Amino acid sequence: SVMRDIMGIDILERQLQKRMGIRKVIVVPGDSDQSPWVKSELGQATAHSMKNLLKSKNIIAVTGGSTMAAVAEMLTPDFGEKDLLFVPARGGIGEDVKNQANTICAIMADNTNSRHRVFYVPDQVSTEVYKSFIKEPLIYEVWNLVKSASMVLHGIGDAIIMAERRNTSQEDLHKILEGKAVGEAFGYYFNEAGEIVHKVLTIGLQMDDLKNVGDVIAVAGGASKAKAIRAI
Ligand code: F6P
Repeated sequence: SVMRDIMGIDILERQLQKRMGIRKVIVVPGDSDQSPWVKSELGQATAHSMKNLLKSKNIIAVTGGSTMAAVAEMLTPDFGEKDLLFVPARGGIGEDVKNQANTICAIMADNTNSRHRVFYVPDQVSTEVYKSFIKEPLIYEVWNLVKSASMVLHGIGDAIIMAERRNTSQEDLHKILEGKAVGEAFGYYFNEAGEIVHKVLTIGLQMDDLKNVGDVIAVAGGASKAKAIRAI
């Protein structure tokens, strides 16, 4: 649009695309830390991108957080003309109910007249619990769906804010601080060089699985997330 031209957004998008080596960058004007409506704009832009990428059959894995909740608000019944199944990307990971992937998937399905599945597994499980959980048929079934996702939608957070928002143990908090983590996505904490310094053990999509996913859409905004976005 003319407005985007005047603001130089198209140029900025192309520069970022090249610098970060990613397929497509969409910039939304404003700072969502300062103006809450910018988060809705992020939701709107995401919905628009999603729509262009949908195939006839889609399994869409979604993470939690308030940004993903804003995306859910922007999905409309016409999306449901395609076959959509929403699944949480990973188990709980300690969010408020309204910001949990399970809740967000339910809203996304509701708004698009589509289906969703839930992943009722606790966040931050122990290794023993993890091993026995994945043997549960119902959990195993959803886990397989998640692993065959055609699209992933995920949020990005500041590492320390996320560690505090979840009930992170003192030991893990120490690891996150010691590793100088700046960003978080999917339960993985990254330092400024983009290296993983800590990983929350939970069931669902792992970082390695992403390379099998056709379309990965990361959505984040706010000046406070700049370092986090760059790290991821
Ligand atoms: O906990 C789920 C999650 O997607 C995190 O991986 C991410 O850091 C965070 O939520 C983003 O939350 P918000 O959109 O509220 O900043």
